[in-house]
Amino acid sequence: MCGIVGYIGKEQAAPILLDGLARLEYRGYDSAGVCVAEQGLLHVVKSKGRLQNLCEKTDNGRTLPGCVGIGHTRWATHGEPNDINSHPHLSQNGRIALVHNGIIENYLELREALEEKGIVFTSDTDSEVVAQLLEYCLREAGSVLDALYMVLHRIEGAYALGIICADEPDKMYAARKDAPLLLGYGDGCSYIASDVTALVKYTREVSYMEDGEVAILTRDNITVLNAMELPVQKEHHHIDWEVSAAEKGGYPHFMFKEIMEEPEALRRAIHPRIKDGRIDLGNLNLTKEMLQGLRRLYIVACGSSYHVGMVGKYNIEKLTRMPVEVTLASEFRYCDPIVDDRTLVIIISQSGETLDTMAALREAKARGARILSIVNVVGSSIARESDDVLYTWAGPEIAVATTKAYSTQLAVLNILTIELAHLLGTVTDERYLQLVAELQRIPEKLDTVLESRETIQYYASQYFNHNSVFFIGRNVDFALGLEGSLKLKEISYIHSEAYASGELKHGTISLIEDGTLVVALGTYGALFDKAMSNVVEVKARGANVLALTTESKASQMKKNADGMLIIPDTEDLFLPSLGVVPLQLFAYYVALQRGCDIDKPRNLAKSVTVE
Ligand code: M6R
Repeated sequence: MCGIVGYIGKEQAAPILLDGLARLEYRGYDSAGVCVAEQGLLHVVKSKGRLQNLCEKTDNGRTLPGCVGIGHTRWATHGEPNDINSHPHLSQNGRIALVHNGIIENYLELREALEEKGIVFTSDTDSEVVAQLLEYCLREAGSVLDALYMVLHRIEGAYALGIICADEPDKMYAARKDAPLLLGYGDGCSYIASDVTALVKYTREVSYMEDGEVAILTRDNITVLNAMELPVQKEHHHIDWEVSAAEKGGYPHFMFKEIMEEPEALRRAIHPRIKDGRIDLGNLNLTKEMLQGLRRLYIVACGSSYHVGMVGKYNIEKLTRMPVEVTLASEFRYCDPIVDDRTLVIIISQSGETLDTMAALREAKARGARILSIVNVVGSSIARESDDVLYTWAGPEIAVATTKAYSTQLAVLNILTIELAHLLGTVTDERYLQLVAELQRIPEKLDTVLESRETIQYYASQYFNHNSVFFIGRNVDFALGLEGSLKLKEISYIHSEAYASGELKHGTISLIEDGTLVVALGTYGALFDKAMSNVVEVKARGANVLALTTESKASQMKKNADGMLIIPDTEDLFLPSLGVVPLQLFAYYVALQRGCDIDKPRNLAKSVTVE
């Protein structure tokens, strides 16, 4: 939530800031703003709405001189999305400018204290209090750095901060706690950003700020101090993906591009982990003894990552007979979870920065659990704080609605599932080899699913004007329905719900009437007959049924369904890996027909770093 970028160097800052913000806009798009320092003054330009407005106001930054600046793209929390509440915020004397990502929890108390001292606030945000407090502390402190530490001791909550001061035009300051911020090392220039996507065009050398750290950036140097104000030697990381990976590359939307990239992303996630037909998870130190010693296995995540966990629960329990508890991170952290040093917690997160997931991780860790995370963004907070990490290697995912990250998370969880079963001896070696062999065929099978996209587009054109949609299924098909439903609602704004089919008769079926669209998921062979019965039941009440099933069951399903989405046959374990893609495409084409802003759906942001 909210994207931050900062530049200090010899080039004109504003065009670089706007370019960086364009790559961060997925983090929030309620407003955008930049501030540059020039000739002893700070110049701020902000604009409500999309970044494009700001680009137009400033001729893509060309009208703003100055070689030092900060920029921000906002997902509003405190104060409505308008020009005034947009960042950067200036302190009262206009000599300090600041951008902030996170929430200052004690801002009201601080604001009241500052107002009593005569400081006049202009915005409704929590962030402005940091700029005002900094100016106030500077009256007593010997330097901006001292004042900044005074501020950091007084504010509570989460923050990534970028700060420039008119009186120190050759410096930029940054600070971090519980919100991502990284430092970029250029040739004669330095950067800050919320995410590497903003920097990769300019530099590939970055380091990740840790909680409590403060950075002082000049053109030629970045000094990092810890919370005790002691210097820290930062490890440099090299970003090896191409700039084009974070660009649309001729596709109409990032979401469509990312769906089309799924087979390749799966190959990257799967193939390096298979050696001579067997799974090789590198340094992941899992043993039979350790697994047998476990009392509990949790999967903890939010949103689509949670839905991956739901599929994982069915699959892990089926294959290993270990009980698995899947919990929403936002619930886990407040439910006094039963976790100890004989608990394995699998954390799933694309961004590796989701605040609730991060808090759940810390809660579990504090109680002694071992943390294994499945993460896409390399070097993200969740990855760094876990005992073990399995990266999904999906590459940058820009569309707010996740697609290739979901698929690669699921692939990695499936690899882990097979490995757990193998270690525990709950599958024979022969079965293990069969599963590994089929796993490697999934990317090709997915290629054929993508080839059927015109059929999916056709059904989207038939059903795009429905107001309410139900996704029904049992077992893994229920878990899949949760994701299909979320995809549809988040980008097309159609109300949709996912139900375990068996639950229909306990209430929901009263909502089925003539023409209600029901997406019936019947890929799971063992329960196919039950799925068919549910289709018949909703048809009898007038529903329009769009069914998703496998090639071998298609002719049977066709007898009752109005429309058919068909995936290749595969092992049960991998059915959701193939089944999710038609649902993603269906949501995409429906949203396209409805003229929605597919990559940036209203009210959402890609990385949820507030509670
Ligand atoms: O980055 P994370 O995987 O931790 O994000 C969790 C959810 O916010 C995310 O999956 C969200 O539900 C997706 N945007 C849905 O498409």
